Amino acid sequence: MFGFIPRQAARQFEGGMKPDPDQRKPLIRLATFADIPALQQLDSLCGLNAWTPDVYKGLILSDSCEVTVWINDRTVIGFCAVRSVCPDLELLKIGVHPERQGEGIATALLHGALSDAIKAGCHECFLEVRWSNNRAISFYKKEGFEMVGIRRKYYRAPVEDARVMRKKMAFTATDVDGATRTNTGRA
Ligand SMILES: CC(C)(COP(=O)(O)OP(=O)(O)OC[C@H]1O[C@@H](n2cnc3c(N)ncnc32)[C@H](O)[C@@H]1OP(=O)(O)O)[C@@H](O)C(=O)NCCC(=O)NCCS
Repeated sequence: MFGFIPRQAARQFEGGMKPDPDQRKPLIRLATFADIPALQQLDSLCGLNAWTPDVYKGLILSDSCEVTVWINDRTVIGFCAVRSVCPDLELLKIGVHPERQGEGIATALLHGALSDAIKAGCHECFLEVRWSNNRAISFYKKEGFEMVGIRRKYYRAPVEDARVMRKKMAFTATDVDGATRTNTGRA
């Protein structure tokens, strides 16, 4: 993702997931075109904005975006879509099948995306979330996001304000003079 990790390559994030060529055990990998119908179904099941196949294709092909899927028994259970404009990362969408929520799947997907983004040089992650989406807001707060703004009437059907949330990400970088600086990720 973000130009330096080979696309289509199944990979596991930190957290102990072992490679599984049959994809029977849970794993997180980059989305492919073959996943698009499942992603659209998750959009609908999760009450998310419906993205067309072309939107998904564009994100999957883009070097500045990453779409990852959480797979169990060859079925797409959850997904996360991000776009990086370094040093910022934008969380575009995250969703988990309603019957599998509360199992830590979104946490694993988000951590994978943030870990990749940090490696690519991102320092902050931003997102918009519907004002009334308490479940997602609890999730983001637990992950260290804080509210930093409001976008009035940002959403349609129904019209609703968006909370803008930000997380400062932990990173260690070496300056041009060789000095190492560390951001703890705390706001
Ligand atoms: C928000 C969402 C992605 C969370 O996915 P998930 O896999 O259930 O989340 P996790 O299991 O990793 O939960 C992590 C934390 O989120 C919070 N959380 C999750 N579900 C919650 C709920 N029903 N009520 C309150 N907090 C909740 C908790 O703090 C939880 O930590 P805990 O289990 O230690 O209490 C999922 O609920 C979802 O798909 N919602 C519909 C789509 C959506 O609203 N997406 C976000 C907008 S783009």
